Amino acid sequence: MDKIKNILVTGGSGKIGRNLIPELLKGGYRVRVLEFEPEPPPYDASQVEIVRGALGTPGLAERLIRDMDAVIHLANVKERKDLFVKANIQGTFDLLDACRAAGKQIKQFIQAGSDARAGIYYNPRPYPIDENFPHSAYPGYYAFSKVLEETMCEQYRYQYGLPITVLRFSWVHGEDDILAHATTAEPDFGVPAWRELATTAEHRSYFEAGQNAACCMVHPDGKPCMRHIVALEDVIHGCLQALGNPAAIGHAFAIAGPSAFTYDVLSRYISEKLDIPAVDFVNPEYYDFQHDLSKSRSILGYRPTYDIVKIVDQAIAYRKQGKTRSLCKYPG
Ligand SMILES: NC(=O)c1ccc[n+]([C@@H]2O[C@H](COP(=O)([O-])OP(=O)(O)OC[C@H]3O[C@@H](n4cnc5c(N)ncnc54)[C@H](O)[C@@H]3O)[C@@H](O)[C@H]2O)c1
Repeated sequence: MDKIKNILVTGGSGKIGRNLIPELLKGGYRVRVLEFEPEPPPYDASQVEIVRGALGTPGLAERLIRDMDAVIHLANVKERKDLFVKANIQGTFDLLDACRAAGKQIKQFIQAGSDARAGIYYNPRPYPIDENFPHSAYPGYYAFSKVLEETMCEQYRYQYGLPITVLRFSWVHGEDDILAHATTAEPDFGVPAWRELATTAEHRSYFEAGQNAACCMVHPDGKPCMRHIVALEDVIHGCLQALGNPAAIGHAFAIAGPSAFTYDVLSRYISEKLDIPAVDFVNPEYYDFQHDLSKSRSILGYRPTYDIVKIVDQAIAYRKQGKTRSLCKYPG
């Protein structure tokens, strides 16, 4: 693969984009960003070329990829029945087709995929699950969209030899996300919504009194649930390992943390660290999952380092520094 120097990043102000762009700049790449948000961007705008626009706008994709060597496609809307066809499906199609039409110009197209495409959480799945498990989205428009986006990428790979890499991120945690997720206190982040699992007077008392507690999701038999998430830092590391890596072309990779965790370990650790009680919440609709990272490790050289303890430690440090959470349009 010829050396990549010029990269188009879509979704620059998003959770992953705003953390990836500074790393690309440090790596010496020239970066063009598709910026959708009207606010000043959360990265150093003086160091990048910004093109303002909305995915799915006719002619935009051709303009965006002009004189670029690679695309990192992160822009996306989540669970928006009204928007996802234009932004995610038309938008991804436009980029893929513009890259096809540009012949050999684009050396790598990195598509942000998701473990949602395999229907984890809501369905029983092989344990651990690997990249070969077929697309099978869980209900809703987000996972459905991720399947359609990947399917388009696969077809552009098969039909036209487009050099595609799909990185299937697990649920991404940065800032103090894990504390927002795994405690009863606001803000809420992700599923489940503990409030909706509050079946006992004790449960309700936490919400009524505004008292904080660490939440332990358990199966109906009392066994703690297992989940596999990923720290933002490991996501950025995964992106950088894939970028410009010839062995990554034509493959999809699971990008998750170094290991899965169980909620008893998580809630006990938060309970100790924040000196709050730990409480069990039964979730009858949850299925454990754990990602097999063998392929990412062997082909990409992916080496995630943020286990659940490190993710919690980082979230606590984030709060201690008095930092406020970034705006999150879809808290999941
Ligand atoms: N955050 C996660 O937990 C997670 C997990 C798995 C996969 N992913 C995938 O990674 C990618 C990036 O995720 P993220 O968390 O950074 O997302 P995000 O929601 O934080 O950011 C999405 C970005 O897309 C942009 N955007 C939205 N609508 C647009 C439009 N019509 N035109 C152009 N840009 C538009 C937004 O401005 C924003 O910059 C997405 O494809 C997402 O599905 C994320």
